[in-house]
Formats: sequence, structure tokens, C-alpha cells
Amino acid sequence: MALFRIRRGAPEPERQSPPAEDWNPSGFALPRHVAIIMDGNGRWAARRSLPREMGHREGVKSMREIIRESGRLKIEALTLYAFSTENWSRPKDEVGALMSLMLDCFRNEIDELNRSGVRVRVIGDVSRLPDTHRAEIASASARTSGNAGLKLNLALNYGGRDELVRAARALARDCAAGILDPDSICEASLAARLDTAGLPDVDLLIRTSGESRLSNFLPFQSAYAELVVTPTLWPDFTAEEFHRALDEYFSRDRRFGGRK
Ligand code: FPP
Repeated sequence: MALFRIRRGAPEPERQSPPAEDWNPSGFALPRHVAIIMDGNGRWAARRSLPREMGHREGVKSMREIIRESGRLKIEALTLYAFSTENWSRPKDEVGALMSLMLDCFRNEIDELNRSGVRVRVIGDVSRLPDTHRAEIASASARTSGNAGLKLNLALNYGGRDELVRAARALARDCAAGILDPDSICEASLAARLDTAGLPDVDLLIRTSGESRLSNFLPFQSAYAELVVTPTLWPDFTAEEFHRALDEYFSRDRRFGGRK
């Protein structure tokens, strides 16, 4: 099905998605939780001799499109890797651009997300983010916490190992306080102390731009995720590309280590 795309830089809405009922006519079971490593913004900009920041800005348009499409398809949870614990090592001006984009996203997008029934949550260690960011994050989470639609998780200053270390500390604290018996610790008690507590495991993990790496993203939650890597750079990732990744997911035989 042809995807109707509006020229870059045109007024909102900058992209239109095909109606959900025109796709997945066989009614395959959708993944409950989709996670995406949004990679390739820099290469997208470099190919056009633009500053990297422009690639990140264009990437926000893809984020909007995929969030909208996930809501329309009634996917339960979508987790987007927007800023990793390792991204601080990028040049100062790029980190600054990403930080200001982050703030813009919270200030400009929350009304629409709220109207669409999206519940916004941030995963990652927000304690290292500036106060202004933390205030916007807290307000967005509080405003949307009662929404029953898509559970949107933005990974900001997120690192899977860091998350596991913080969860291990929480377990140790509870043991020291006598709330928890060390011998009773199980996968569920660890999962309950991760930033993603209460969410289903990741079913489908998509990475754009052709790299086949996990990059410290949701290592515990993705233990049995189906991986789909596409060569498409994130700013070019559309609802149609998303459908292709979902089609690939439908074709997989998930056995979870067992046998059919
Ligand atoms: C990877 O592309 C992408 C990121 C490091 C950030 C993803 C950010 C966005 C989609 C924009 C929204 C941002 C925030 C913080 C809300 P890359 O720069 O590594 O691309 P490259 O591999 O081609 O250089």
C-alpha cells in the first residue's frame, strides 16, 4: 500500500499514515511491547551535508509518526531509546542540541500525546538531567499517568547495565531493611525494581541504520525479543517501514527455548 508522504518542512501534519485497517488484514497478534533503537540521524544529516542536529530534529518527526501509528494499532507499549548513558561522551555541542531537543519535545508534544490518551513515562537515571528537564518530565508523567492508551517510554540517560545496578541496589536496600529475604529473590523481584516495572517484556526490538548491536538497551527485558534490523536511517523510518518490521515479526516462530 502506498504511503502518502508530505514534503519535509511542510506544515503539520508532516506525514500521513495508511489506515490501520488497510494493513494486517489477517489480524496477526501484534507484539505487546515494541522497543526501538533510533539510529542513523547523524548519517542522514551527513548525506545531505547538514549539521548532525538537523538529523536529530528530523528524527523527532519519525518519533511522532511511530508513536501515532503504535497508538492506532493499539500496541500496548513502545519504548524509544532517545539518549543513552554513553551519549554524554559526544561533543558538547551535540549533547547540548540533544538536551534542548529533549526539552522542546516535552514542551511541544505533551498536549497532543495527552489528548491521544498516551501515558508517558521516562526510563533511565533522570538524576543527571538538568532541573528544567526533570520538572518537565515529572509534569508530563503526572499529567498523563491516568491515560489508558499507548504506554510510551522514553529512555533518557538510560543504560541497561546502569538500570540493573540500580535495581540490585534497591534489592540490597530492601534486604538490609528486613523487607526482603535474600533467598526469595527471583526474576520477578528484580523486574519489579527495574525502570520498566509493570510493563510486559519486549516482544520486538527494532534497530534502524543497519547496525546489529543492542547497545546496552533493555538487556533484561529483551531476553526473548525478536530482533529486526533495517538499513533505513531513523529519520526515513515511516509507518510503512514499521509495518514491514511487524510483518517480519509475524513471520517468526517464537519458541522461548521450548519446542513446538
Ligand atoms: C542515534 O543517531 C540517535 C541518537 C543518539 C538520539 C536519538 C534522538 C532522536 C531521535 C531525537 C530526539 C531526541 C531526544 C533526546 C528526545 P546517531 O547520531 O548515532 O546517528 P549516526 O550513527 O548516523 O551517527
